[in-house]
Amino acid sequence: MGIDRRENMAKKVAVIGAGNVGATCAYFVAKSNIADVTLVDVVEGMPQAKADDFSHTAPSTGFARTVAGTNDYAEIAGADVVVHTAGIPRKPGMDRMDLLKTNVGIAQTAGKNIAHYAPNAVVIAVANPLDIISMVLLRETQFPSRRVVGMAGILDSTRFQYFIAEKLGVLPADVQAMVLGGHGDSMVPLPSYTSVAGVPVKELLDKATIEQLIERTRKGGGEIVSYLKTGSAFYAPAASAARMAEAVVTGRKRYCPASAYLDGEFGYQGIYLGVPIVLGSGGVERIIELPLSQQEKADLDTSAEHVRDGVKTLDSIDTSG
Ligand code: LAC
Repeated sequence: MGIDRRENMAKKVAVIGAGNVGATCAYFVAKSNIADVTLVDVVEGMPQAKADDFSHTAPSTGFARTVAGTNDYAEIAGADVVVHTAGIPRKPGMDRMDLLKTNVGIAQTAGKNIAHYAPNAVVIAVANPLDIISMVLLRETQFPSRRVVGMAGILDSTRFQYFIAEKLGVLPADVQAMVLGGHGDSMVPLPSYTSVAGVPVKELLDKATIEQLIERTRKGGGEIVSYLKTGSAFYAPAASAARMAEAVVTGRKRYCPASAYLDGEFGYQGIYLGVPIVLGSGGVERIIELPLSQQEKADLDTSAEHVRDGVKTLDSIDTSG
């Protein structure tokens, strides 16, 4: 009798979109041994090929989960988490908002299918423009807002952490950072909540250097786009999304920044914005309203305004059919 490996830990993560971000995310999740993975894409053969290829690494890497590739949304049934990565990436000279029209249509189809086949899942939005795609997935699935959350805060924070570690010549994992706001050039890195093993970053770097690293963080994704030319970053976005999927699957209650639907928190109503949350098996279990300085709040207001503009564009697409 064959061993059904799904029997022991019947957790399942579905990843929609088998491009660079989706495929890499599927691999990180499978390799963490916390869930079986189903990789979905409209391109025939691609998710199957990638899933099989990953599976063949199991003897080398020791991963014990199953990875399946499919073109059929029905196979996301039973997923505890659905990670939505499908969409086109940026090319040099593009803003994440330039992707809106194409990626909204893809997210609408995905949202309907998620609602139908995986009605109990927590949805993690990854495609750009992130905060708007999160809203589309919320609207299409009609899930409670805590079950639709956007990945970006972890990505933006890990970039800030990395740049600080590089500057100081210390281990990146020893740096803790918090980046709030929309996932765009107006994101809000918060040095006041950034430390190296508990030591405030302001004790270790001067103001001008911190400002440079903030600017580099804001442009971090764009820097990769201009090197790559054909698309955008994928290892770091995929690792961040996988970390979120793991938090949900394991119920680990990670304290992290993420794009959450705000219903008055921080003074914002009815938009997705990067804020500190506790992420667990129910999705967004709490939103933490950190005290912010006047300047930090003003920067967050600007970022929220950009997201609001994006929602207006989204609504104009919706009404024009
Ligand atoms: C980035 C893109 C994926 O920040 O949004 O790299």
